[in-house]
Amino acid sequence: MSLWLRRGAPSTQTRRVKYDNLDYSISRHEVLVCEEFMGGDRMSSIGKEFMERTKYEYLGESDQDRGLPQPPLELACPPEAVPIDLPKIEQINVQALDLTVAMEQRKTVRKYRKESLTLEELAYLLWYTQGVKGVNARPVTLRTVPSAGARHCFETFLMVNHVTGLTPGLYKYVALEHALIPIDLEPNLIEKMTHGARDQIFVARCAVVFIWTAVAYRMQWRYGERAYRYIHLDAGHVCQNLYLACQAVDSGVCAIASFDDDELNALLRLDGREQFAVYLATVGKI
Ligand SMILES: Cc1cc2nc3c(=O)[nH]c(=O)nc-3n(C[C@H](O)[C@H](O)[C@H](O)COP(=O)(O)O)c2cc1C
Repeated sequence: MSLWLRRGAPSTQTRRVKYDNLDYSISRHEVLVCEEFMGGDRMSSIGKEFMERTKYEYLGESDQDRGLPQPPLELACPPEAVPIDLPKIEQINVQALDLTVAMEQRKTVRKYRKESLTLEELAYLLWYTQGVKGVNARPVTLRTVPSAGARHCFETFLMVNHVTGLTPGLYKYVALEHALIPIDLEPNLIEKMTHGARDQIFVARCAVVFIWTAVAYRMQWRYGERAYRYIHLDAGHVCQNLYLACQAVDSGVCAIASFDDDELNALLRLDGREQFAVYLATVGKI
């Protein structure tokens, strides 16, 4: 880089930059070349910068510290939404699953039979990934998975391909009600979903895609910028439960982090900043 940086007085055609504590003036073209050249470095330093700047010493007061009210435990449903009640966990009969065996046998599955999941099986998987066991006095939800500070900032979307009793399309899990609401039942959404998942073809062949989206402020209210670390940690717990629970319903899972953020957020009608997709998983019968 120092090869094309030259020291000198800036003119209207140049821009000043600082490098190694020295001032340089460089032309507009050099700025562009320089930005392109630094692309790799700059990209890799974003991760390091993120880890650095989310250390406690940089954080300052959170909105919770400042006494601001906490955001809702779950986003409100659209008023016109008609919830589909799911079978309660006590009513669901699945085969008993030894935890040690489940952990031993867990593996990623990308080939599925064309058989549908039942609504009961789907309800079981939703319960063990995000089910609300109670709401305590703070108030926070206590769920079947852990979450930093019990912030539970996820909203679960489902792209249903074949589940008995459900029209294919996009749904959202209302965890507080243990119910589903339809979001978009336009045909062929699974194809758009597959494209959004960077054309990983098994997406089109699964029974249902779980999509965990984060409402960032629900976590940020307590943890400030450090929240972004916890959001991704929380997602891992959720998906691991899905891997384990799927074995009780003869289904396989593939976790997916390779997706086009903008495309997927647009498909889910999310702004991509306040709420965004974090992690996906395909599920299908094996
Ligand atoms: C964070 C994360 C992201 C992943 N993303 C993808 C993905 O986009 N596509 C895919 O086919 N598999 C994905 N996987 C599955 C891994 O490839 C898989 O877990 C790994 O190959 C090990 O195989 P196993 O799960 O059978 O032990 C992902 C797994 C994790 C944990």
